[in-house]
Amino acid sequence: MSDERSNGNTGEADEADPIALSYFDTYSDTVLLFVHGFPFDGRMWSPQLDELASAARIVAPDLRGFGESAVPPAPYSIAEMAAECIELMDALGVEKYVVGGLSMGGYVALEIYRQAPERARGLILASTKAGADNAEGKAGRDAAAQKVRDEGTAPIVSGMLSKLLAEATYEEEPELVDFVKEIMDAAPAEGVIGALAAMRDRLDSTPMLSEISVPTLVLHGDEDRVIPSSEAEATAAAVPGAKLAIIEGAGHLPNLERFETFNELVVAFLEEL
Ligand code: MLT
Repeated sequence: MSDERSNGNTGEADEADPIALSYFDTYSDTVLLFVHGFPFDGRMWSPQLDELASAARIVAPDLRGFGESAVPPAPYSIAEMAAECIELMDALGVEKYVVGGLSMGGYVALEIYRQAPERARGLILASTKAGADNAEGKAGRDAAAQKVRDEGTAPIVSGMLSKLLAEATYEEEPELVDFVKEIMDAAPAEGVIGALAAMRDRLDSTPMLSEISVPTLVLHGDEDRVIPSSEAEATAAAVPGAKLAIIEGAGHLPNLERFETFNELVVAFLEEL
């Protein structure tokens, strides 16, 4: 429990409220918005929703096209995804929050900061990168979208699943592999196609990094084969005062593969805010 008294009494007589009581309060004013990666949904934050609840209030939306959120017709944009997250926090009455995102969720987190920097108490950028897709990357998104139109999401899911996790995770944690596959299998084809277009057309956030003025934590698995850890190093070097943690034994999903370490790093970061 907090030993800080919240005290409405400013020391000046207040005619409208003559009795300003002093009181203890255990509320947490730390709110953490966690934005999922591709092609996942809010369930990918299960170990954080379960275990970080005493450190912060966690809001983990399903982005448009995923989970139980609406599936509008493709294409989508990262700007729309970010604006909808900001609208959600507005609807919840949360003015300031830590913005966290993993991979595509990191692209969205950076875009939330671009659109509403005054709302951010901090940034957590996990398994992500600041740059835009190059021409080859954009062509790969289009080819992937065409494959989903032709064959459904199964080939994309199996292609991604084979490189998402650290080698040992596949052998030692079959239940986690099943959980990851279950979430990806549930992704609607239209949502996948929409998000591929959003990632293809996302802005280059690299020029913005040096202007980020909130505490920033950059997290990355040392065995990430989707986005190399050199991207995290470059991001952390460019954001003033950013902290970098490379999580050993984790692939692209360190919040699931090494959730205890991930959670400890997040809690330590929140405590310093
Ligand atoms: C993700 O994990 O969200 C995506 O793989 C990121 C990307 O494809 O750029």
